[in-house]
Amino acid sequence: MNFYDSEKIIDLLKPLGYKISKNPENCDLAILNTCHIREKASEKMYSDIGRLANFKKNQNADNQMTIAICGCVAQAEGREIIRRNKAVDIVIGPQNYHTLPKVLIDKERKRGKNKKFIGNQFPRESKFDFFPDPSFNGYTAFVSIQEGCDKFCTFCVVPYTRGAEFSRPVNDIVIEVKKLVSLGVKEVTLLGQNVNAYHGNFRNNQNYNEKYSLANLCNLLSRIKGLIRIRYITSHPADMTEELIREHKNNFKLMPYLHLPIQSASNKILKAMNRRYTKQDYLSIVNKLREARPDIALTSDFIVGFPGENKNDFDETIDLVKSLKFAASYSFKYSSRPGTPAALMQLNVDEDTMNFRLETLQNVLNSQQLEFNNSFLDKTIPVLIEKPGKKSNQFVGRSEYLQPVHIFSDESVIGKIVKVNISSVTSFSLHGKVC
Ligand code: 5AD
Ligand code: SF4
Repeated sequence: MNFYDSEKIIDLLKPLGYKISKNPENCDLAILNTCHIREKASEKMYSDIGRLANFKKNQNADNQMTIAICGCVAQAEGREIIRRNKAVDIVIGPQNYHTLPKVLIDKERKRGKNKKFIGNQFPRESKFDFFPDPSFNGYTAFVSIQEGCDKFCTFCVVPYTRGAEFSRPVNDIVIEVKKLVSLGVKEVTLLGQNVNAYHGNFRNNQNYNEKYSLANLCNLLSRIKGLIRIRYITSHPADMTEELIREHKNNFKLMPYLHLPIQSASNKILKAMNRRYTKQDYLSIVNKLREARPDIALTSDFIVGFPGENKNDFDETIDLVKSLKFAASYSFKYSSRPGTPAALMQLNVDEDTMNFRLETLQNVLNSQQLEFNNSFLDKTIPVLIEKPGKKSNQFVGRSEYLQPVHIFSDESVIGKIVKVNISSVTSFSLHGKVC
C-alpha cells in the first residue's frame, strides 16, 4: 500500500515541476513515506529524519530543502515528529496526500517564514478523487480498492492510522484498470488493508447503485480485454466467503496464489488477538480453496510472542504450518504498539524465547518455500516478462505464484506472457528456457 501511495504522491507532484532526484543531499523536497505497523519500522523514520536534517543544514540557508513526512507514522504521531526534529516542515497522514501540492505551493509563497504544516485529520473528501490519471510504469500495477479496517485485531495500529473501512466505487476502479490496460498493463494487484471485506458501489446502466463484493469486482475486471492476471492482497480469513472461493474456481484470470494471514494457530491466542476465527475455521477455508482450485498456493503472516503465547500455543502454530505447507510467508516478533489493546496486556515472552520461536518458524517456512520452488523443476509455466535482468540478454518476469523467473532471450519478450521450462531453482527464484 505504501508503494502504491508513493507512486501516487509522485504523480501528484509532477505537475508542480518536481522530478525524482538521484541526489538526496541537495534535493528541494525530501519525502519519507513511513510505516507504523511495528516499532522497528517507526523508529527507522527518526534516524532517516536525522540524516535528512544534516543534508538540510549543509544547504545554502536561503534555499533549504523541505522535509515532508507522510504515511502512518505521520498519522499517528503528528506534531510529535516536528517536536523531535525541527527540520521537518510537513507531516501528512495517508488520507491527506491529495493536499500535498497545495501545501507545497503555499509553503513556497511563504518561503522564509518557516511555517509548519500538519495534516492528520480524516477529511470528508476522498483522496482518490484528486489523483491524476495513472501513467505507464511497467506491465504490472497496483490498484487500491479498499482502505482502512474495522477488524480491530488487538495488536494492530491500522484501524487507527488508516481509519475506518472504505471501499472505492466499482466504476472508478474499472476506469483506472482500463486506463492501465490501455497503457500496456497486463496484471493488476487489487490492494486493501482488508481487501476481501470490499463492498463498493456499482452504478449500473439504469443509474441504480448495487453493492459489489470482491468476487463481483474480480468477475467484472476479468472481462477487460488485455488484462491477463488479477491478484488481491491482503485478505482476512473471516471474509473469505463461499462466493469468493467460487470465483477462484471459475475465474482463470484470478491467480492461484493467495495471501491469507493466520497469525497464530492457537485458538487461545487467536481469541486474544480478536482475529474472529479459530484454527478449525482456517483449516476449513483452506480445504475449500484447495478443492475449488487444486493448483492454489497459500502464503501467510505469523506473529510470535504475542502476550500469553506459551510453548504449547507456539507448537500448535508449527504443527499447522507443517501440515498445511505454505509457498512463502512473513513472520514477525510481536511488537507492542501504543494505543492498541494488546499494549495493555502482560508481556510474558522474553526476547530470547521470541528470537528462538521466530527462527524455528522461519526455518520451517524457508524449507517449505524451497520445496515449493523445487516442485517447478522441469515444468513449463507461463511467465509475464517485465524487464531486462542483470546479465546481458537476460530478462526477468513473474510466475503465476509471484516467483521471479530468469530467462535468456531478446527484448521482444518484454510485456508478454511466455512459456518457460524451468531448469534450476533457488529459494527465491526460478531459471529456465523459453519454449
Ligand atoms: N507486531 C508484530 N507484527 C505485526 N503485524 C501487524 N501488527 C503487528 C505487531 N504489532 C504483522 C501481522 C500483519 C502484518 C502486516 O504485520 O502479521 O498481518
Ligand atoms: Fe490490522 Fe489486518 Fe487485523 Fe485489520 S485485519 S486490524 S489491518 S491485522
